[in-house]
Amino acid sequence: MNKLTLDDVDLSGKRVLVRVDFNVPLDEGKVTDDTRIRESLPTIKKIIAAGGKCILMSHLGRPKGKRAIEFSLNPAAQRLSELLKQPVIMAPDCIGDEVERVVKKMTPGQVMMLENVRFYAEEEKNDPDFAAKLARLGDIYVNDAFGSAHRAHASTEGVTQCIKPAVAGYLMQKELRYLGQALKNPARPFVAVLGGSKISGKIDVIENLFGKVDTILIGGGMAYTFFKAQGLEIGESIVEMDKVDLAHDLLKRADENKTKLLLPSDSRVAAELKSDVATEIRKNDALRETDTAGDIGPETEKLYADVIRKAKTVVWNGPMGVFEIDEFASGTKAVALALAEATKAGAVTVVGGGDSAAAVKKFGLENKVSHVSTGGGASLEFLEGKVLPGVAALTDK
Ligand code: 3PG
Repeated sequence: MNKLTLDDVDLSGKRVLVRVDFNVPLDEGKVTDDTRIRESLPTIKKIIAAGGKCILMSHLGRPKGKRAIEFSLNPAAQRLSELLKQPVIMAPDCIGDEVERVVKKMTPGQVMMLENVRFYAEEEKNDPDFAAKLARLGDIYVNDAFGSAHRAHASTEGVTQCIKPAVAGYLMQKELRYLGQALKNPARPFVAVLGGSKISGKIDVIENLFGKVDTILIGGGMAYTFFKAQGLEIGESIVEMDKVDLAHDLLKRADENKTKLLLPSDSRVAAELKSDVATEIRKNDALRETDTAGDIGPETEKLYADVIRKAKTVVWNGPMGVFEIDEFASGTKAVALALAEATKAGAVTVVGGGDSAAAVKKFGLENKVSHVSTGGGASLEFLEGKVLPGVAALTDK
């Protein structure tokens, strides 16, 4: 990595301003999935152990520039305090005199959580004055918020104009190492599994992976736009009519780039995608007008699992079906299990954040793959080959 990291700086006695991604799900004021908080612990513990003053900042949800109690970071601070087994000071705000006074009183090893940076519209506008106010709170800036690194906001990008050095935290490094290694230096065969409902969200990923991966396995709703492009009946299955020509073009270009692009050979269909519905299996050229596809079929599960098991590098982004409904979870589970087996056999397996991360968790397999990204949008943009502004802004080595 060509950026300075936490290990390159002297933290002792310093005010260390850390951007974390504590945008975590809440229910009645309690954190329901603390993965992002736990993943930030190595960075926070390092700062504490080195005698730094750890000042954490994050967004939570999309409060659109207004202060709203339901978007407070207080529940995240409480959860962090339990995990650290030490108090976490909850700041009244993220900028201003009062916050600066509290920071001034901090002693080495203490941890403070600033209030939601998105309570100010200036955050998402990357306003330089707002960034400068955040910067007043730190001597060193650490970005450990991989999940927000695709955003050029004041707390991820603007602040780096005011605090030097700006360095990568341990979670940021880990994410970039797994995703970066997969794309730059993959052990082969290299297989990408792409799913999700829409082809429009994955076009750039598919294009970026052409020529890099050996095989792309397509699942989820987006497969049916490809089938439409092949002139097949897709019934009531999800389709993006304005992307049919593009799907046709992608199939052609896959051939030209010598990347195998596999589509499901069968589907699990129903009259409606809901719980307790009767499902049937159809070959991909035998869908009926009244069918709605909700998952890949058993033949595809087997075929995809075989390809994944033989791979040495696997990147997975997007479920194979509506896995939240048990009747349509089988394909996504088969892929998750195959990734776990490939990992056991020595492959590097990386699961993108968002839905695929939720899926491996649902099936209890999150510790059986090499890496589950904490970034949904960020990992997608990384796979699209885009530069992440939050990473680009860090100080070069
Ligand atoms: C995420 O959950 O993907 C990140 O925290 C980014 O959130 P955002 O899409 O609201 O910027």
